[in-house]
Amino acid sequence: MKQSVSLIMIGAALMLCGSLARAADASTLLSTGAKRGEALYQANCTRCHDTSVHTRPNSIIHSLDALKKRVRFCETNARLKWSDEQVEDVTVWLNETFYKFK
Ligand code: HEC
Repeated sequence: MKQSVSLIMIGAALMLCGSLARAADASTLLSTGAKRGEALYQANCTRCHDTSVHTRPNSIIHSLDALKKRVRFCETNARLKWSDEQVEDVTVWLNETFYKFK
């Protein structure tokens, strides 16, 4: 009995490792700019909306160019004073993660 409990524990530990490894895989697939963009987004952009706006069926964004303009628009509204590079990094992260425009 005691042995089967420890087997379950080992199984649970292995499953946990598996999901951690998968999470690591997903983030290593991101480019360096996108990783910077993700951090910027999480720190500055979740006051009015979360990331669910980027997957909504009636998204107002239909091209990479429109995405970049929208990032600049929201950033200006939020009075963040981002550089072109910061806007680019967040645009790249949003595109790699949600929009996937070519
Ligand atoms: C002051 C509030 C506010 C902040 C802060 C804000 N947003 Fe927005 N954002 C909005 C609103 C409101 C909409 C939805 C506009 C609509 O539905 O027409 C939106 C929509 C968007 C969209 C389009 C979603 C889609 O696919 O339809 C993007 C992209 C976006 N925001 C990016 C950002 C980024 C990047 C930041 C951080 C710089 C940010 N937002 C911060 C208010 C904000």
